[in-house]
Amino acid sequence: MTDSKRKILVTSALPYANGPIHLGHLVEYIQTDIWVRFQKQRGHQCTYVCADDAHGTPIMLKANQLGLEPQQLIDRVSTEHQRDFAGFMVGFDNYYSTHSEENRHFATLIYQRLRDAGHIARRTITQAYDPEKNMFLPDRFIKGECPKCGAADQYGDSCEVCGATYQPTELKNAYSAISGATPVEKDSEHFFFKLEDFEQFLRDWVDGHVQAQMKHKLNEWFESGLQQWDISRDAPYWGFEIPDAPGKYFYVWLDAPIGYMASFKNWCDKNGVNFDEYFEQGSDAELYHFIGKDIAYFHTLFWPAMLHGAKFRTPTGVFCHGFLTVNGQKMSKSRGTFIMAETYLNHLRPEYLRYYFAAKLGSGIDDIDLSLDDFRLRVNADLVNKVVNIASRCAGFIQKKFDGMLDSELTSAALYHEAVAAGRSIAEAYEKREYARAMREIMQIADKANQYIDTAEPWVLAKDENRATEVQACCTLGINLFRVIVSYLAPVLPQVAEDAAAFLNIDGFAWSEVEKPLLNHKINKFKPLMQRVEPEAIEKVIEDSKQNLQATAAAAPAPTDKAAGKMEPIADTIEFADFAKVDLRVVRIAKAEHVDGADKLLRLTLDLGGETRNVFAGIKSAYKPEDLEGKLTVMVANLAPRKMKFGVSEGMVLAAGPGGQDLWILEPHTGAQPGMRIK
Ligand code: MSP
Ligand code: ZN
Repeated sequence: MTDSKRKILVTSALPYANGPIHLGHLVEYIQTDIWVRFQKQRGHQCTYVCADDAHGTPIMLKANQLGLEPQQLIDRVSTEHQRDFAGFMVGFDNYYSTHSEENRHFATLIYQRLRDAGHIARRTITQAYDPEKNMFLPDRFIKGECPKCGAADQYGDSCEVCGATYQPTELKNAYSAISGATPVEKDSEHFFFKLEDFEQFLRDWVDGHVQAQMKHKLNEWFESGLQQWDISRDAPYWGFEIPDAPGKYFYVWLDAPIGYMASFKNWCDKNGVNFDEYFEQGSDAELYHFIGKDIAYFHTLFWPAMLHGAKFRTPTGVFCHGFLTVNGQKMSKSRGTFIMAETYLNHLRPEYLRYYFAAKLGSGIDDIDLSLDDFRLRVNADLVNKVVNIASRCAGFIQKKFDGMLDSELTSAALYHEAVAAGRSIAEAYEKREYARAMREIMQIADKANQYIDTAEPWVLAKDENRATEVQACCTLGINLFRVIVSYLAPVLPQVAEDAAAFLNIDGFAWSEVEKPLLNHKINKFKPLMQRVEPEAIEKVIEDSKQNLQATAAAAPAPTDKAAGKMEPIADTIEFADFAKVDLRVVRIAKAEHVDGADKLLRLTLDLGGETRNVFAGIKSAYKPEDLEGKLTVMVANLAPRKMKFGVSEGMVLAAGPGGQDLWILEPHTGAQPGMRIK
């Protein structure tokens, strides 16, 4: 090892405690985890902390709607998040919550230090207020008609139909998304962090602490001028009350990054580590934050400025990554590419995705694409056919003919030394987060190992009793090359590494250990280390992801990319007896027609297998009548008939989706028979 033992603290962004982890998130957590595992493998003192981001209006309201206390909601979500992260082998040293005493302590301390140094301003601002709920409304909780195109039910910041962005005050017929009341304007005093006080500090800090692409972005931000940042919110709010201002709370984004410190402090206290050594000014510990490009402003401006203003050390590096697309497009619920961590894990092994992300990740902020065909082909070609194959081609001979004993010396040692020497460049690639390059270089070694075995042909030699020593020599080299390759892949494939260690009968894969080959060493019986990715498994993931969507009832669309994937609030609990009253039937859509004068409805004639019903369904925006005819769907068959403007509706079909074109009826398997009851 070249550099001496470093003290490194690493974080990933804190996921919001109101929605499930999806594959987009995992780009970040897997990227970070690989880096941390690499540092640990190199022998450094590296600590990886994270937490749930548990405060703010969306969490407060969601808890409300679920009939839970916020604490209950965040506990529940935290359990799910940790389950999903563990499922993907993301190995946090500590996973905590921003709703913790440590975080209250540091948020208060940092605020007080900034205030006492004159970096907090106060002034009165006017905002939309819900007169029924008695609360100020964040932009995304105000809805109304788009000022540009007139589309109904648009959010306060942007229109989903025409894409316009605007101020909430510009909406026509605005209403509160919480109560439906018409918002009024109301004054209130807010607290501001004077970011402009730190312009010079930030301009200097940027050098050497962010990626080149981010530096450009930051220069743009400097040019457009640093604005004061509103860090307070009025009650009712779910967060920490500001110590000298009863009824006012820290905005969630103030205490969120402080949550990094809180989680680390919590870990330090449990492990007898001195927190100050890491966070005092002039500390020799390194501090790195991995984040997505959407939250760069918070991490490259507010956060270093807050730390500096409060006399703490500032980050060594902020590592920004791009966004995940699936099959070249934004993740989409209707295409089944909005994939939750849990859904993936039900069908596929986590290491497939870890490897695929590694094979695509560079050190920049470009988006990365998960192309599902490429994913399958790549994982099968690289991991199964190349890497695992090396061991399976050699292990049997060593086991059967030599009782598991490797030879006492290496023939063709040059190939082995070449593989060891490549470790330098591979380590450098990991260090710089150029994982794609690291994977390429590792696969080159695997190619050479396979070529060597192809040429040596141990299966031919093995037939000749006189050439046993050659078989042992060739397979010993093969197994040793396999060991080097798995060692290099260990940050990406922790389970494969663990299983390979058991097979190789070694303790693990400290980075520099491969310099010494395994000779005169007994290995264990080889068990297959990884199966192929089957296309059916991927299809199931897509299918289940579509189902997830149907399972969440049709309701309001998500206003922004970031809010997408957050589940709709679940209605009040009902007893099973209530549910059992609903008679759901498979029906065939015998006829579907436009209704004169109705812009949302289609008239459906439904065949229940003997009986027909006339039902009006509000699905015109998503379906053409001719596409519906002949399809099976599901209806509520015992809903009381309802007289509508266009006629009587005798039941209801079930559909889900945010609305517009994104609305789906349920489609039972074609084997289902009209009239079948769904139980
Ligand atoms: N709670 C804030 C972060 C506070 S950090 C002090 C937040 N949470 S989040 O759940 O929305 O996102 C967590 C991380 O996942 C962010 O870094 C975000 O950029 C990343 N990603 C979320 N969706 C993503 C993709 N689709 N693709 C790649 N990364 C994504 O932001
Ligand atoms: Zn519009």
